[in-house]
Amino acid sequence: MEPIIEVKGLKKYFQTQRGLLHAVDDVTLSIERGKTLGVVGESGCGKSTLGRTIIHLLESTSGQILLEGRDITHVKDKELRAVRERMQIIFQDPYSSLDPRKSVDATIREPLIVSKRYKKSEIDDVTRELMDFVGIDERLRNSYPHELDGGRRQRVGIARALALNPDFVVCDEPVSALDVSIQAQVLNLLKKLQQQKGLTYMFVTHDMSVVRHISDDICVMYLGQMVEKCPSKELFKNPLHPYTKALLSAIPSVDIHHPMKREILRGEITSPVDPKPGCRFASRCRFVTEACRQPQKQVEASPGHFVTCCRLNEIV
Ligand SMILES: Nc1ncnc2c1ncn2[C@@H]1O[C@H](COP(=O)(O)OP(=O)(O)OP(=O)(O)O)[C@@H](O)[C@H]1O
Ligand SMILES: [Mg+2]
Repeated sequence: MEPIIEVKGLKKYFQTQRGLLHAVDDVTLSIERGKTLGVVGESGCGKSTLGRTIIHLLESTSGQILLEGRDITHVKDKELRAVRERMQIIFQDPYSSLDPRKSVDATIREPLIVSKRYKKSEIDDVTRELMDFVGIDERLRNSYPHELDGGRRQRVGIARALALNPDFVVCDEPVSALDVSIQAQVLNLLKKLQQQKGLTYMFVTHDMSVVRHISDDICVMYLGQMVEKCPSKELFKNPLHPYTKALLSAIPSVDIHHPMKREILRGEITSPVDPKPGCRFASRCRFVTEACRQPQKQVEASPGHFVTCCRLNEIV
């Protein structure tokens, strides 16, 4: 399978008062069409920035972004608009991402009008189809975001994101703000829509059970760097990077037959502002040696299992 999205050496730095913040630092990955790549890691590790940079909501600092093999890193104007239509985002909190002054109908209709893809006469039908597609009752079309519960609001966000038939969707914590009872419904909806439309997802979350449920592959990030990426099953069965192991050890009974001892991370968290070269996890890693202070290479430990750790042979 050809990847639909490829990212090579992607960097996104922010200029801050304290210095240059390395939010995404040299990330290389690819996603195959119709698959879901889960992205996990603690708050501030750059998950959202990675997703937003790939879909061109943020301008990359350096590196390459390819869509179906075509380099789209520096597209401008008309091409940029076309690329953005093909890559959409579903946000965590539909309440703040939806315009409070727009009704459900107007919210979903807007991208259809802006795109100029449809005739006026078609837009009513397409809007209705979209509402039906994501399971919003037609009677809610004149409601406003504050009149809907969290689950329905997120359905509106999903309808809007899918209005122009994108290929690739970044789902940025799409269920984290929802009641647990609603989370499964929205996850199942996302899965169903993916199958029906052949969508490719990047699914950002810090909920390990959600990511396990939804992802084909999982990418683990730590302070802007990708430390590990492999098929979801493999990650839970055979985590290799010391940070991944610590992350998984915090979930109660991932595998009841092989319970992991909970590992408490000690040591100072490295600052993402003007960081020194080398592994960002070094300051908290119990396997650290001098070699970890050098720039690290991503290695393929087994087919499809990528790890960025120079101590791999010593710790497995
Ligand atoms: N516009 C910005 N200007 C400056 N720094 C930013 C900006 N956006 C993000 N950052 C910083 O970049 C880093 C990565 O942020 P990001 O929001 O991508 O993390 P995240 O993994 O999505 O976190 P969370 O799980 O809390 O959503 C953080 O240190 C954050 O403070
Ligand atoms: Mg985020």
